Amino acid sequence: MNTSPVSGNLSWTMTRVSDQMRSHLLGQRGLVVWLTGLSGSGKSTMAVGLDARLHESGRPSYILDGDNLRHGLCKDLGFSAEDRSENIRRTGEVAKLMAQAGVIVICSLISPFSADRQRVRESCAADGVTFMEVHVSAPLDICEQRDPKGLYRKARTGEIRGFTGIDSPYEEPQAPEIILRTGESSIQDCVEHLTRQILASATLHPARS
Ligand code: ADX
Repeated sequence: MNTSPVSGNLSWTMTRVSDQMRSHLLGQRGLVVWLTGLSGSGKSTMAVGLDARLHESGRPSYILDGDNLRHGLCKDLGFSAEDRSENIRRTGEVAKLMAQAGVIVICSLISPFSADRQRVRESCAADGVTFMEVHVSAPLDICEQRDPKGLYRKARTGEIRGFTGIDSPYEEPQAPEIILRTGESSIQDCVEHLTRQILASATLHPARS
């Protein structure tokens, strides 16, 4: 529930279908899997892999990807610290709602600031939604070598300002539920590890066939 609306005169509409009823119908309780890491660390690759594995296992899932959301829901936001915070807040709220609907929501955003990630964690906890922080970890030099979108090169030449890891900070998670070291293990191994952890932590009923 939104506990601090800016405008007054609001009430909360109660539904007749509870979260429990929804999860019973879907065969699972939703949760939020939050992938954080540098650009090029492999977040999207992990998200796509996990989503596919969950789908194969009969588990409803959906990806909220930072790049994609910035084409719609967050198209008005840039990369200042303030805009990134709002980006994370909005995405976190949507993720929580989707998780309450019973979906395993995979969020893939750089989300460089600890306080913003913590706020999403607390917002989920307040509504009984499980939040799992996954640090997709790779050293900056490896991310820069990969440079899949050519953005590190542009950041180094000054064509892009405020790029995470170059001239904008990335605050590593201090106690993430999962760490994936994509510079050390193969993509397949990381996706498998992540999938196993998520399936083990999710409250699942038998998958619907
Ligand atoms: S976040 O910091 O607000 O969490 P988000 O994950 O939504 O970022 O978007 C990051 C994507 O935007 C990167 O994958 C990259 O393609 C693009 N991008 C453009 N400018 C920047 C920048 N200054 N810093 C980081 N990413 C940027």
